[in-house]
Amino acid sequence: MIVNMKGHFHATDGLCKHMKWPLSWGGKLKDGCVTCPLHQTTHCISDGSLVEWAPFPLFPPYGRLVGSMVSKKDLGIFETRVEDGFVQVLI
Ligand code: FES
Repeated sequence: MIVNMKGHFHATDGLCKHMKWPLSWGGKLKDGCVTCPLHQTTHCISDGSLVEWAPFPLFPPYGRLVGSMVSKKDLGIFETRVEDGFVQVLI
């Protein structure tokens, strides 16, 4: 996933680290973080660090259950640069 945050491009893994939901399918950006729509796992966009793991605020016990099924991971981050008007990602 590529995000333009205040004119700076960030490239991250495309799938949520929890259960691989595509973050481009409803992921929400707020305060420099991306939140997965499925169980609301949140990662920082700039360094990929984990902020919150499957809290599922609608029913937290369910969030704790599904959160325990997968080990916590940071989001993968890839280097970017802009060349001749194109965003390039080092993978
Ligand atoms: S798949 Fe993204 S939080 Fe569960």
